[in-house]
Amino acid sequence: MNNPHPIDTRPLITGDDPAAQTYYQDLVSEYGSPLLVLNGRVLKTRFKALQAALPEVDLYYAVKAHPDPEIIKIIDQLGGGFDIASAGEMSLLLDHKVSGRRTIHTHPIKKDQEIRDGLRFGATTFVIDNVHELKKLVPYRSRVGVLLRVSFRSASAIVDLSKKFGCAPDEVSELVQEANALGIHVKGLSFHVGSQCHDASKHVEAISRCHRLMQEINETANKPLSVLDIGGGFPADYELKGLDIEAFCMPIRAALAELPRDWHLIAEPGRYLVAPSVTSVTTVAGKSMRNGFRWYYLDDGIYGSYSGQLFDHATYPLQVFRDGERMPSIVAGPTCDSIDVVAENIGLPELEIGDLVIGHQMGAYTAATKTRFNSIPDARLVVVDHPQEPPVLVN
Ligand SMILES: Cc1ncc(COP(=O)(O)O)c(C=O)c1O
Repeated sequence: MNNPHPIDTRPLITGDDPAAQTYYQDLVSEYGSPLLVLNGRVLKTRFKALQAALPEVDLYYAVKAHPDPEIIKIIDQLGGGFDIASAGEMSLLLDHKVSGRRTIHTHPIKKDQEIRDGLRFGATTFVIDNVHELKKLVPYRSRVGVLLRVSFRSASAIVDLSKKFGCAPDEVSELVQEANALGIHVKGLSFHVGSQCHDASKHVEAISRCHRLMQEINETANKPLSVLDIGGGFPADYELKGLDIEAFCMPIRAALAELPRDWHLIAEPGRYLVAPSVTSVTTVAGKSMRNGFRWYYLDDGIYGSYSGQLFDHATYPLQVFRDGERMPSIVAGPTCDSIDVVAENIGLPELEIGDLVIGHQMGAYTAATKTRFNSIPDARLVVVDHPQEPPVLVN
């Protein structure tokens, strides 16, 4: 058999699960297919779990992870803040009457219009990472406070967010002096050690380095730096191993305990909150046998809800409600493009047209990066409040 594809080793759940199957089937009967099912109960649980794991830290949801109005509504109800990076994200919040005061504008590079949009919206905290951006704020200096973003590269994070933004730690002091000379208030430092971090070691390193930098600056400053924004990076459980956020955050909490009590601590979580809160439900629209592989064509794919497999380097656990001999299979999306393949060389029991294929942990950087190639409509987002938690695979 011609078998050019490496074996897909993502978590795969097969076999009977009548409760789950009926739950998803009922949703499809009511709303059609494909769907993204947002479980508000899971989102609330995750928000509270992260709050409990980092009790001294104010959480600002990173809207970019999934800019859906229903998610904004729930975070708003929970009293969370919002990390925004564009006028589009501000207008989403405006629709929900979220005050700009509850936001931080974290895009380090902004056009003048974006700064003015932010100010009109009511945002007062802006992130910058170089002197050109600092100078852009001079006309608005009486109305803004700045967080300086520092770069801490992370080889182990799946998405290294310090590659594109952030000044080197040894540039911080000069930038603060420059800001002082320009009459701009630097409130503190921020960083993002990368998304989907394997462990908290980079957070810990960045916290203690920022601690030292802020202390050094504060020795001579008129207005001391007193805000530390520790970014995102809290992982999703793509392996379905039962992520323990308390354990993940323990070293971060210990590092934060070393900081002065009166500093204001902020985090910008995206992925950890929304990934487990959203489940993709797709239907097998067609099947064929080609070159020794069973091909299944779904009604959603890489140009839709599974776009994160391209842009976010994520692989989502799949579930089918069939059992039987597993055969090398290819799960493809609905467009005419051959890149539109969700899983290559995955061992699946035989599926039939009309079967459901469930994608778990699919709330972060999924719908956020979808396109409309072939003019195929988006998966419909439905909101539920259901005890169904994302599955965990016990070995
Ligand atoms: C500035 C900033 N803050 C927060 C986040 C959210 O990070 P995560 O989803 O890893 O929590 C991102 C992700 O791109 C980001 O760029």
